[in-house]
Amino acid sequence: MSTIEYRPGLEKVPAVQSSISFVDGGSGILEYRGIPVEVLAEESSFLEVAYLLIFDRFPRADELARWEADILYHRRIKWHLRDMVKLLPSTGHPMDAIQALIAATGMFYPIKDIAQYSQERFVYEAAIRLLGKLPTLVATFARMRVGYDPVPPRDDLDHATNFLWMLLEEDPQPEVAKAFDVSLILHAEHTINASTFAGLVTASTLADPYTVVSAAIGALSGPLHGGANERVLGMLKEIGTLENVEPYLVGKLERKEKIWGLGHRVYKVKDPRARVLQNLLEGAFEAGGGKDLHYAIAQELERIEGTSLGQDKGVWPNVDFYSGILYHKMGIPTDLFTPLFAIARTAGWLAHWYEQMRANVLFRPTQVYTGRHGQPYVPMGERKHV
Ligand code: COA
Repeated sequence: MSTIEYRPGLEKVPAVQSSISFVDGGSGILEYRGIPVEVLAEESSFLEVAYLLIFDRFPRADELARWEADILYHRRIKWHLRDMVKLLPSTGHPMDAIQALIAATGMFYPIKDIAQYSQERFVYEAAIRLLGKLPTLVATFARMRVGYDPVPPRDDLDHATNFLWMLLEEDPQPEVAKAFDVSLILHAEHTINASTFAGLVTASTLADPYTVVSAAIGALSGPLHGGANERVLGMLKEIGTLENVEPYLVGKLERKEKIWGLGHRVYKVKDPRARVLQNLLEGAFEAGGGKDLHYAIAQELERIEGTSLGQDKGVWPNVDFYSGILYHKMGIPTDLFTPLFAIARTAGWLAHWYEQMRANVLFRPTQVYTGRHGQPYVPMGERKHV
């Protein structure tokens, strides 16, 4: 009998020491490098936040200009990757596509010396490529799967505007591009969640940073993590009317099924990122001349669940509850919502990778063995399976 306490899901077990982000789930606080995420959403840009997360300091004006220019330069992708997209099944999920494409991207940048991993210059080079290329890979897959040529990146556009341009081939309104940039800030980092942990475990083997991000993308793809935002929109569509919200909720709870976009392993109050997204949505609908049915249904669902799940179990809207509605309003296809999450979270994954590389220890947890010992080998003729 083992004396080690087993915590399913490693709940509350510290996996690392980290100074990148902080969550107080009871008070609804999220800070990046000590700064509340709401302040960064108001004052900063995604690329500045990415720099802050990875290098643990705000860039000076010249550093920021250089960082943005380097990322802009690395938005371009090799034709091999574009040709690889042609061969992927167009009906496949874009998360699977970008997981494969990012892993393949790393093949162009073989690591000569793993001692470089903890050097800022090397981290910078990997970061500008990963942050620059992932949006292009997402947009390239999205365009080519429906039979169009990819839209090349434009040097006159900032990070968020350029992505929307490559995806939709339309110049977005500045407030739409700003809202998208804010959503990237909100998704950029969130302590040791499943995808960051998957990335860290991979990093600890001294795998290259492209493999680290690819592994993290795989973990993010599941519906209990990043995949929840697309399911939220499907759920709101399924509910369909305001009158149907209560019976839908009651039915789900009776059948002990999950309501997508509600609940969080850490937050026991409303996720602060959901609040910022809600404000963005309110602004978007004001500018767009009125409310949207999906948003009205989501608000009603939040109101009703607050009196049951919320009060009883501390289950409140998480970041995914409102992000899908915002992306839908921008004209972004539903199955790209999780890839957008990956575009943002690459900043956090890289920050954790760099932190890990400066004090690396290979992850090798133990287990509580529950199997048998000393069993005989059973010859084929004697096996009696029922
Ligand atoms: N719908 C219905 N019930 C929920 C719920 C949801 N979305 N989230 C939690 N609950 C219930 C749990 O079943 C549990 O009930 P019980 O006490 O009767 O067993 C109770 O609320 C407490 O759950 P909790 O322990 O706080 O949640 P967790 O840590 O096990 O799960 C999630 C956290 C994120 C996995 C869970 O909330 C979930 O699956 N949410 C939907 C998926 C989602 O939106 N994921 C994105 C996260 S950012």
